[in-house]
Amino acid sequence: MCGIIGCVTEDKFVASILYKSLKRLEYRGYDSAGMATIFNGILYVKKDQGKIDEVNERLNFNNMPGNIGIAHTRWATHGAPSKINAHPHTDCGNKLAVVHNGVIENFIELKKELLDLGHKFVSKTDTEIVAHLLEENFKNGENFFSAFINTVKRLSGSYALAIIYVGEPDKILVAKQDMPLLIGVGDECMFVASDASAFIDETNKAVILQNGEVAVITAKSYEIYRVKDGAKVTRNPILLNWTLEMAEKQGFPHYTLKEIFEQPLTIKSALRLQDTYADLLTEFLDRGEKIFLLAAGTSYNACLATSYMFSKLARLTAYPVIASEFIENYGHSIDIGTVILAVSQSGETADVLNALEFARLRAATILGITNVVGSTLTRISRAYLLQNAGPEIGVAATKTFTSQLVVLAQLALRLAKKRGKIAQYEMDEFRDRLYEIPDVVSQVLEEVKKPVQELAKKYLNSKFFLFLGRGISTATAFEGRLKIMELSYIPCIAYPAGESKHGPISVVESGVPAFFICPKDETRKAIIGNIEEMKARGAKAIIIGSKDDKELMEISDDYIGLPDIHELLSPIIYILPFQLLAYYLAIERGLDPDKPRNLAKSVTVL
Ligand code: F6R
Repeated sequence: MCGIIGCVTEDKFVASILYKSLKRLEYRGYDSAGMATIFNGILYVKKDQGKIDEVNERLNFNNMPGNIGIAHTRWATHGAPSKINAHPHTDCGNKLAVVHNGVIENFIELKKELLDLGHKFVSKTDTEIVAHLLEENFKNGENFFSAFINTVKRLSGSYALAIIYVGEPDKILVAKQDMPLLIGVGDECMFVASDASAFIDETNKAVILQNGEVAVITAKSYEIYRVKDGAKVTRNPILLNWTLEMAEKQGFPHYTLKEIFEQPLTIKSALRLQDTYADLLTEFLDRGEKIFLLAAGTSYNACLATSYMFSKLARLTAYPVIASEFIENYGHSIDIGTVILAVSQSGETADVLNALEFARLRAATILGITNVVGSTLTRISRAYLLQNAGPEIGVAATKTFTSQLVVLAQLALRLAKKRGKIAQYEMDEFRDRLYEIPDVVSQVLEEVKKPVQELAKKYLNSKFFLFLGRGISTATAFEGRLKIMELSYIPCIAYPAGESKHGPISVVESGVPAFFICPKDETRKAIIGNIEEMKARGAKAIIIGSKDDKELMEISDDYIGLPDIHELLSPIIYILPFQLLAYYLAIERGLDPDKPRNLAKSVTVL
């Protein structure tokens, strides 16, 4: 998984534009970076291992000449992070450069064929075969476009590709299959990028490429063609409503902190559902015979919480399932009565898309919730809803988790109304409390910031943390664990508290910090028993509970008090201290909270 960007102008040097754009794509991967430009018939390439700024400090991208160029930020799949494996990749004659996001599945056989033809490979990547395939096609006298089309036809797997060639230095050729790729249509420059944040400060006009398409991009035009039959495709740009300001830090030291504090706003946006589509999803879910909530990572934790909401409010059983397990676990019982609601912030997670493709071929109905307009999930869903949280740059999901919960809570309410299994006053109560959430979130963030910072100082050297919750708070425990593990690198264990006596209790010894999520709900009494069990074995009880819960305060070693909230909305509020704790633990431990090691924002490999 990587970020790619290309830019072509009539007469301006593009290196500094590319560099700025590349920085915006860094969240897609950051183990190495590189850039290629063409000037006076010469291909210039600079690349190295490291984050973009580090590489730039060594190589100075900005002084590369030329009014056409491509650049890449990498998250390794084939070949370890290193200078030679960094993109762009070139052919033997150094005449063309390729950047790629995705995985070329048949690269081993293609590489063998090219080696037999005498091509010399320098990297261990799958991408390099594209450069040599093109070079081979040039030998047959083909022009850039025809050599490119014939190259693309030989590839299987996933790719967003951008290529420049000294022989035709006025155009960037691009291809898309199963990886996001957009053309940015500016007045003075044309862009191509994995994501609109790369060019949104230059233009908000974007053309979303579809699978099986290639495009020819020059300083003043773009032309799209279908690979399979060469047909020309006419597609006008759409106007994106993401401003640059939305994608910048707005005065916070890190994107993650900015995004945590943005939640009152993003939750408000998530409350504005598009009625027609929300009704459509409600209808499909109500009619389904088997219902699955499918997702990965944080989005899975939102699905887990949703299964409690659907059951309690609408008396609807929906199975939350981890996307990568779906086919093995449930795939063989899918049929036309199956409805799958897939939740994916990026809409591009490979495990999710793979499971959906399997289910789609067996006639299941696919529904989606995503934050990214034009993502693959929006294209394969029968109906979908948008989270409207704006781009999330911090690798760890924060604002997109709460916006998913808010969208899903509204679906739960619609299902409750449609199925009529609970009293009107219960629905009204839920609705009223839901609309209060943005204010409650603002208040809580301000109130808990300081105490959480203190907690981070106190527990920064912990060997591990335990997270326990019951009922819907199990989802909060899971998500709290995920945030803290991702950002602080401290190992964490999370369990439904009732299950903790069946094994996890054995790891507890004197001083082990255990977080208990204890909103005032039906599970409160039972979790007090679990807290006592853990304390009796030496655990330090860090309790997140209601502000006025004296009993819990007394048995706690540390206490974070929160306002009372509808039990089914509690994950939206109770996750906030954990998001902040994860952030402050990273800071205390000298880590970069925006770019945790080994992780990437959008996991597009299986
Ligand atoms: C956690 C995180 C990841 C994602 C997961 C799914 O902070 O960011 O675990 O939640 O990769 O991503 P989406 O929601 O884009 O499918």
